[in-house]
Amino acid sequence: MSARIHQPTDRSLRNLASLLRDGELVAIPTETVYGLAANALDPRACRAIFRAKKRPASDPLIVHVDGLRSAEKLAVFNAPARILARKFWPGPLTLVLPRTELVPDIVTSGQSTVALRSPAHPIARRLLRAAGVPLAAPSANMFGYVSPTSAEHVFAGLGRRIGHILDGGPCGVGVESTIAEVAPDGRIRVLRPGAIAAFELVAAVRDVGGRARLARTSAREPILAPGLLDQHYSPHTPMEIRSRLPRTSAGNREDGTAIIFVRRPAGALGRGVFAFSRNGSAQEVARSLYRVLREVDAGGFQRMLVEAMPVRGPSGLVGAINDRLSRAAGRRRGRS
Ligand code: TXA
Ligand code: MG
Repeated sequence: MSARIHQPTDRSLRNLASLLRDGELVAIPTETVYGLAANALDPRACRAIFRAKKRPASDPLIVHVDGLRSAEKLAVFNAPARILARKFWPGPLTLVLPRTELVPDIVTSGQSTVALRSPAHPIARRLLRAAGVPLAAPSANMFGYVSPTSAEHVFAGLGRRIGHILDGGPCGVGVESTIAEVAPDGRIRVLRPGAIAAFELVAAVRDVGGRARLARTSAREPILAPGLLDQHYSPHTPMEIRSRLPRTSAGNREDGTAIIFVRRPAGALGRGVFAFSRNGSAQEVARSLYRVLREVDAGGFQRMLVEAMPVRGPSGLVGAINDRLSRAAGRRRGRS
């Protein structure tokens, strides 16, 4: 099998929507990363997602919906959850809530909660409406590898394992959604940081007079989202993180080490030298993060030294970028 890459015409969207309803897999663009989608109400189709990605069955799927009304068929929303959905959907926020009976066990790995998100990408929204069913879609990469932010990335990883990829161009956000669990008593726990920060979630609920407080995740707790595993989103090249790389190291690298700056130094970049952005903004770094990691990974280097984002005040995106970098570096972090 070799995947076909489809352009998002009305005709191809109708065609892909009908393939999805019939139980096939389609990789789809979202504003965060590309997802590998299947009809979430069809257990057989969902099983095919796990097979294609080599994803363990214990790692539950996020379900994508076209809005709050569809979401309420799949999960039980309390007042703060409804406020969060109204404020941040469509967008990069996934809510973990008690599931309803409509959700197949395979989607939630047998858990009593389901993860739901209404994506903002206009092509994902058109496809969801055309399909008329919720779409289960984890990131469209082989389990454990760097997430894809373009149709080409999906093809590189899954091109021989799936039949269809919908091309929606490069992803605008570039890192996966914030995952927040909202407990029945209104406590909000961020299971994975993303573009929307924890404080924004609490503020949104309080702004409309609701009650919300943050539950902190402690290191001793069992893993709540398998995406919190220490080594995940990882390139093959061993990677180390530095808080700052000296600008003087931007010349040709002769030692098999690639280096990645947050902000491109002035002048030409030497061989083995990369940058996540021109202006140093979190938005630009997030958009290019996974593309640059993939480029370096393809370059045959023995290791890479990567600059982390400087932290200035509470920002969802900066936290999410540094979180992904340290998970990508995994246990190799800190060793030189
Ligand atoms: O931005 C995103 O969230 C992208 C796009 C495609 O929507 N999706 C994504 O999916 O990143 P995935 O499967 O790569 O990451 C979803 C994470 C996994 O770590 C999974 O364990 C966790 O969400 N998850 C899913 N259902 C859960 C649940 N009921 N409780 C806790 N964690 C859950
Ligand atoms: Mg993933």
